[in-house]
Amino acid sequence: MKSTNVVWQQGVIDRPKREKLLGQKGVCLWFTGLSGSGKSTLARLLESTLYRKGHLAYVLDGDNIRHGLNGDLGFSDADRKENIRRIGEVARLFVDAGMITVTAFISPFRGDRNTVRKMMQEGGFIEVYVRCSLEECEKRDVKGLYSRARKNEIDAFTGISSPYEAPLSPEITVDTERMSPEACVGHIMTYLKEKHITEGS
Ligand code: ADX
Repeated sequence: MKSTNVVWQQGVIDRPKREKLLGQKGVCLWFTGLSGSGKSTLARLLESTLYRKGHLAYVLDGDNIRHGLNGDLGFSDADRKENIRRIGEVARLFVDAGMITVTAFISPFRGDRNTVRKMMQEGGFIEVYVRCSLEECEKRDVKGLYSRARKNEIDAFTGISSPYEAPLSPEITVDTERMSPEACVGHIMTYLKEKHITEGS
């Protein structure tokens, strides 16, 4: 921490006011799962489903954020930790803005995900385990990265040469091997309604 002598500035318009205007609660839906498990697909489908119902969501996506904000980070354990820490801070700001914030990062380490959970208010961090076997992700190999990782062309590839720690008690689990994308998103939508996050839609 190098920032000293800085004071948090409070605005006149607070989070509850923004949430009232938007007709929703600001939360973070934290998708976690292997590369190719379907995180980005589900995040985008959830975003458009919410939009159609009059709700504002915003997707923070692994590959996109690594082009900009986190372009200086690689895939060592330390860099992944810093990747998730920064995204956590960005997500916290989005949640404070009243946004249904959807993050789609492998986020392979339980400790890193729990650090972000602790940054949010109670109930504000919704861990969504996008479950899909390594075999199926490898079969899909949408980006061709698994076959390159098997040939040792990519270092520390999650599931092959770097671990993935599945969540122990996620708020939501969706199984993309057995459920359609629509069914997965339907499951998440039901959760949001039950928890009064998307009240009145
Ligand atoms: S995380 O582990 O730090 O959470 P993140 O979600 O940001 O990863 O980025 C994952 C994406 O980066 C993958 O979907 C894949 O396209 C790409 N990628 C490149 N190298 C690796 C690697 N060594 N391990 C995992 N994903 C990689």
